[in-house]
Amino acid sequence: MSAFPHVIEAQGDLAAYIGANKGAVDDHLSQAGAVLFRGFDVPDAQAFDAGMAAYGETNFTYAKSLSNAVRVNVTERVFTANEAPPETRIHLHHEMAQTPIYPSKLFFYCEIAAGEGGATPLCPSDIVYERLLTEDRSLAKAFEERGVRYSNTMPAADDAGSGQGRSWRSTLGVETCDEAEARLSDLGYDWVWQEDETLRVTTPVLQAVRILPDGRKTFFNQLIAAFRGWSDTRNEATKAVRFGDGELITADHMAAPIALSEDLTYDHAWQAGDVVLVDNFLVMHGRKPFVGKRRVLASLVA
Ligand code: FE2
Repeated sequence: MSAFPHVIEAQGDLAAYIGANKGAVDDHLSQAGAVLFRGFDVPDAQAFDAGMAAYGETNFTYAKSLSNAVRVNVTERVFTANEAPPETRIHLHHEMAQTPIYPSKLFFYCEIAAGEGGATPLCPSDIVYERLLTEDRSLAKAFEERGVRYSNTMPAADDAGSGQGRSWRSTLGVETCDEAEARLSDLGYDWVWQEDETLRVTTPVLQAVRILPDGRKTFFNQLIAAFRGWSDTRNEATKAVRFGDGELITADHMAAPIALSEDLTYDHAWQAGDVVLVDNFLVMHGRKPFVGKRRVLASLVA
């Protein structure tokens, strides 16, 4: 892996730059896993959206995703990254790897940098997996061969106080319980209705390790974020993840991946106007707690 992330420092219009240099940008992305655009003229969400349009790939919409996070669309392609409170740390994850439908690339844009904190940790997941293989081969193979199932309980109405607060109606794009069950059945999920119309769902077996087209393997999952962070009034994080065969994934299983990923993480400290492009199959991301106003927007590529 080359310098991480790759930095493109220039001035001028982001959309014009991306439109003229997409091939080079994509080359850097596949090498480094993340590319920072710094110093470009990106004053607002509309300029960011124009950059995404110039990139020219299919947009992955929040509305159609099964993301757990509460988000708000700002423009057609751009939405708030996560409405969770500032003190909430969002642990490392591959975007939506806890669902069968995930984006291939993510763009983040910093409109307002936090007064304090608020970095976006970025972690090369291919190296995490490579080191895990060296450190504990049987554990690495257990993740790779057995896969993982995620469970979470969704509220009936959005709960912006939680990093996993998106309602089942919004998550599944439905209105009624019957429609929810039909969608879950199509997706291969198990479900149990709880009190207060909350809905506990368990995914089908999903991959925990992904093989990229060039043969690299990555720790492509949402295990760290789920195990460390899926706690709220409805959920206990330590009960969120199981191997594909049903065995609970415990602190013993998670210790090595957590330590390795922390070791390999680069914290991106935002400056207003920064745009970061992340290969979602190669690099995990998260969010550090912050103080003050921070506005980081996201746009996803299908
Ligand atoms: Fe995310």
